[in-house]
Amino acid sequence: MGKAIQDLLNEHEAILHVFSILDNMLTSPIPDEKRDLIFGDELVNFLTVFADKCHHGKEEDVLFKELENLGVPNEGGPIGAMLQEHVMGRQLIALMREALLSADLATFKLHAIEYRDLLRSHIWKENTILFSLADELISDARQMELFEKFEAHEENVIGHGVHEQLHAQIHVWEGLYHL
Ligand SMILES: [Fe+2]
Ligand SMILES: [Fe+2]
Repeated sequence: MGKAIQDLLNEHEAILHVFSILDNMLTSPIPDEKRDLIFGDELVNFLTVFADKCHHGKEEDVLFKELENLGVPNEGGPIGAMLQEHVMGRQLIALMREALLSADLATFKLHAIEYRDLLRSHIWKENTILFSLADELISDARQMELFEKFEAHEENVIGHGVHEQLHAQIHVWEGLYHL
């Protein structure tokens, strides 16, 4: 496994872990609207910054471009399908944010479930199909170069130290929702 693909797989694990926390929030036996609304705001921030800007940004600006250059089709192919799901994800994040603005926890939960289900299936497709293909097509040496681009992207998009803050945030959620 090359370094670039391993980095994206690690980010998938972090996103899936956050969905387990969301699952616990959705099935919590002790409802607490105020707590869940604050979590909702923090979750939307995490999904916007980490899942979309950082992770989907690395895929779109670096990996998918590399794959297209290697002849993997975009429109009508696996890259186009993945891009479409990124767009759907952004629309669902916007709907979650809108629901939170009016403190509508029930609507927030509905869109959070839609987003979770979309991304779980999206990640499964990338892990099993697109990333296996990418790891075969892109040499380990080239993946080191792509990983350097990922690091630059991360620095650009989320800035120094934010990654650590997000991880610390996840630990707080784990305590809150007993994961
Ligand atoms: Fe993706
Ligand atoms: Fe991904």
